[in-house]
Parts: sequence; C-alpha cells; structure tokens
Amino acid sequence: MDRLAIIGGRPLFGEIEISGAKNSALKLMAAALLTDEALVIENTPRLADVEMLLKLLARHGAEAKFDGSTLRLHARTINSTEAPYDLVRKMRASFNVLGPLLAREGKARVSLPGGCAIGARPVDLHLKALTAMGANIELDEGYVVAAAPGGLKGAKIDFPFVSVGATEHAMLAATLAAGETVLMNAAREPEIVDLADCLEKMGAKIEGAGTSAIHITGVERLGGAKHKVVADRIEFGSYAMAPGVAGGELFLRNGRLDLLGGAAGALAEAGLQLTEEEDGVRVKRLGERCKAVNIVTQPYPGFFTDLQAQFMALMATADGVSVIKETIFENRFMHAPELARMGAQISVDGQTATVRGVKRLKGAPVMATDLRASMSLVLAGVGGEGQTIINRVYHLDRGFERLEEKLSHCGALIERVKGEE
Ligand code: EPZ
Repeated sequence: MDRLAIIGGRPLFGEIEISGAKNSALKLMAAALLTDEALVIENTPRLADVEMLLKLLARHGAEAKFDGSTLRLHARTINSTEAPYDLVRKMRASFNVLGPLLAREGKARVSLPGGCAIGARPVDLHLKALTAMGANIELDEGYVVAAAPGGLKGAKIDFPFVSVGATEHAMLAATLAAGETVLMNAAREPEIVDLADCLEKMGAKIEGAGTSAIHITGVERLGGAKHKVVADRIEFGSYAMAPGVAGGELFLRNGRLDLLGGAAGALAEAGLQLTEEEDGVRVKRLGERCKAVNIVTQPYPGFFTDLQAQFMALMATADGVSVIKETIFENRFMHAPELARMGAQISVDGQTATVRGVKRLKGAPVMATDLRASMSLVLAGVGGEGQTIINRVYHLDRGFERLEEKLSHCGALIERVKGEE
C-alpha cells in the first residue's frame, strides 16, 4: 500500500487549483441514469470514488468516456437494475442509484451500504422518502428491493433531521414522479444546488434548492445536458488551512467564500485572512500562530463536519484551548489519537474534543483512518517539524485529486512512496 512521506516546516507559497466537488460529481453521475440521452459533466475530479461509481454505472448500462476532466455518460438503455453489495459497500454514494433506477425502470435491487468508519450511517430517510413517493420497499438478504410499477408519485416529505444524501436521493427520484414533491427540512449544501442546476438543465422543474423547502414538479422525461461541477468546498477549506499550519500565502483558484458557509467565519476568527478575488480566494495567516476557536459541526451553512478533522489539526498548534463538537457523525474523532502521536494535546469525551494548542507538532508515522481524517494528518505533517509518514493513503485518493502534486507545487516536501505498508 502506498504511503505519503512529508518533511514539514516549510511555508507554502503559490497557487492551488480547487477541483470539482467529489460529493457533487457522484450525485450528478447518478442523475445520468434518469435519461436515455447523454449527460456531459465537466470539471469531474479524477478520484477513486468516481472510478468506483463508473463501474457500477457501467453495470447498469451507462457508457462512460473521460476527456480530461469532462465525463460523458450515456445510459441509452438500462441493462440491469441491480447494484451489488461489492460495489455499494465500498462507496456509500453508490446507494443513490436506487432512486433513478426506480424512477426510470419502476424497479431496482440495490445493496444496503452497511456501516462505515465514521458512523453507522443508516439509509432509513432515503427509504422513507421513496416509500412516500409510492415505492414498495422490501429488504431481502441485505438488499433493498424496490418496486413502483405504475411510476413514482409526488409526495410531501418532511425530514426529521437534515440529510444531504436523502435530500439528493429524493430530488433525483422526484424529477420523474407524477405531480409535485415537496421536501421539507431539506439539506442546503452547495452540492444540492449544483444537483438541482444540472437536473433543471436536463428538463426537471425544481424550486427552492439551497433553502430548506424544495419543490419538484415531476416531468415525463429528462434529456441530455452539459453541466460543470461546483468547486469542492472540502478541498478548498482544507487547503485554506495550510498557511495556518505552515505559514506562507496561497491563492486557491475556483474557491469561493460562500461555499465555506460558517467555516469561513471560524477560519477568519482563527487568524486566517481570506480575500476573495475574481477567480479564487487568497489566504494567509495573520500573526505567528493561529488562535483557538470553538466550533460545533452542523449542516450547511454551519461549520461542516467534513472540515472538522482538518480544523483540529489547525487548532493543534493554535494559541489557546479550543473545543470541537461533532454533531453529525458519532465516530469522527479517529484522527485525534493520530494527531496526538505528533505531539497534539487532545482529549476526547464523547462527541467533544478539547484541543490545547502546542507551539509545534513533530513528525511521526501515522495512519490515515478515513478520507477527511487523512487530510488532517497531511496538514499536521506539512506544518510539523521533521518527517511524517502517512500510511493507508488510499483513503486520500478517494477524495483529494493530485494532492502531492498540488502541495509540492507550493513548496511542500511531500511524496508518495509506493509499496508495502
Ligand atoms: C454526505 O454524506 C457526504 N457524502 C459526507 O461526506 C458528509 O460528511 C455528509 O453528507 C454530511 O455533510 C457524500 O456526499 C457522498 P447525511 P451523507 O445523510 O449524505 C444520518 C466525505 O468525507 N442519517 O447528511 O451520507 C447519518 O448517519 C463524506 O466526503 C440517518 O440517520 O450524510 C448522519 O449521522 C463523509 N438516516 C446524518 O444523518 C439516513 O437515512 C447526516 O448524514 C441518512 C442519514
């Protein structure tokens, strides 16, 4: 297994281009199943998760062709409405093919995704939404077997709490349902708006994406379209913290402050200067060290959970004590003991981590435990003193495009070491 070797302590200067958002691209790709015409998705990040979903889409009958970062998907006919365990288990977003298959073909058999490292992550809200739209859903040996022979019907769905995946799933399915669907307490993430934009280009009728009430009026069929994936706010937010741990100044091309929601305020409070320019954001640290800031993770526009691990790395060398509360996932502090191996002073009590900033972290061998946790180790390594070896880099490959290239281009000493763990 590949590892990353980082020699930390060098300030970073230069430009990093923020890629298209993985978490948007995956749902846009699922949308390709809704039409027999071609969907062209520009700015698609070349990531392991995207490749994984392509494998599944190919099984369903979609032809795929990459030209640089432009992905052309064409699902002329659906060959199979089954999504097998092996493909769904490795990447939960695959579960989102259920709605489109059901909406287009009237049936689907999709494996339940199972738990994952950061939490149990059930899909009950996804199923509740599809059931409300008239689907008959049964569970059979770990599979969701869904049928809507007469087609899906619009429904009013009031989510008991905010779920990004369930909102997107319901949106996808509702585009082809008869009548109006109203999603209450819907997620408001930029990826929701991006999905709605793309679906509208395909002919869907959607109002209110980006607010907590989304209205979708079903249409008989959707057509092809061309859409550019929104910039990845998680990648953007992660690199925005790099000058905070290492010093220097970065220009993050394609970054937009609105994508960060409440995280923008937290970064500014921590002592980072974020200046929006025409086609990106310039970021530098004001002062020698960042300042401690307390955060609570929340659905967008709150401080998003996918930046929590990286923020903990930032706080590890900030001046003061910061309290970090995770409210979205029940097991999302696995980076804390790894950061502690590098000298971070962190105590975890349930869903709350208290971080006492130290002046400097020291490089150490550490283990990546999940995608975003891995990025916190990269930041800690880049800002720390000496060598950090990060094992299990495959986690990073799922969600950060050309990471070593982007960082080394700005002066970081970081390289991939091929081979055994
Ligand atoms: C998306 O996951 C993202 N993944 C996650 O990013 C992100 O952390 C999360 O949204 C929150 O922003 C993708 O977009 C592929 P949720 P999702 O449904 O949709 C519970 C990354 O690193 N829940 O908003 O699965 C759930 O367990 C990943 O890129 C139910 O209980 O998240 C969680 O506690 C990690 N029942 C909370 O809701 C359900 O049916 C929010 O999850 C659905 C969710």
